[in-house]
Amino acid sequence: MTSADLSPDRSGYWNEYYAASAATKLPLPSQFAAFVAGELQGPTRVIELGCGNGRDSLFFAANGHDVTGVDGSESAVAAAAATAEAHGIRASFLVSSIDDPALPERLGAGTATGPLAVYARFFVHAITDREEEDFLSLAAGLTSPGDLLAVEYRTVRDQTGAKVTGTHYRRFVAPATFQARALGQGFEVSYATEGFGFAKYRQDDAYCARELFTRV
Ligand SMILES: C[S@@+](CC[C@H](N)C(=O)[O-])C[C@H]1O[C@@H](n2cnc3c(N)ncnc32)[C@H](O)[C@@H]1O
Repeated sequence: MTSADLSPDRSGYWNEYYAASAATKLPLPSQFAAFVAGELQGPTRVIELGCGNGRDSLFFAANGHDVTGVDGSESAVAAAAATAEAHGIRASFLVSSIDDPALPERLGAGTATGPLAVYARFFVHAITDREEEDFLSLAAGLTSPGDLLAVEYRTVRDQTGAKVTGTHYRRFVAPATFQARALGQGFEVSYATEGFGFAKYRQDDAYCARELFTRV
């Protein structure tokens, strides 16, 4: 396994973060994962980008979806794979930076035969502006008309709020800019909202955008 192109600073940061919290106890899924699960129309191939410890990938897999979780942090992916094994959950995990040119092929771009969802929670704000373009281009290459792109991220309005995890790399995102880029990659907005209350965690109540896109 290799952390490919993820910058050494960020890769090292996330490796230490996930190594410190590694446990095979099944983590609770995010509220966003529960919301998206309700939107899926039957068994779906779910590709989670920036899966962290796999909390949401494991949830989708445990609910009958065919899941691959991707993360640039080796320790995050190791934790996710160990939890899957400990709980008998069938899911695949792979280490890759979002901008690795080999990633589309590793994810089987162009080979999906049924519905596919690209899912990314708290990932868009954890990557650079250039990586956001790579992310959307990858999502476009993986999906076919009717497929889903589901994202939740911290917006520019979250910049000043208290953070439980204050040291994470964050780039607060403007929803209008993100949506315009997604449209440029062949997606249309099927649902978009923003506000507080979507991702409350202790004293941190992030101001989030929650968006679903359909591939046209
Ligand atoms: C804030 S965490 C979100 C984790 C998980 N989605 C969740 O909601 O709990 C962001 C994740 O993105 C990963 N990441 C950051 N930059 C990345 C990149 N360029 N390529 C792949 N993964 C990256 C980090 O390793 C980390 O696991």
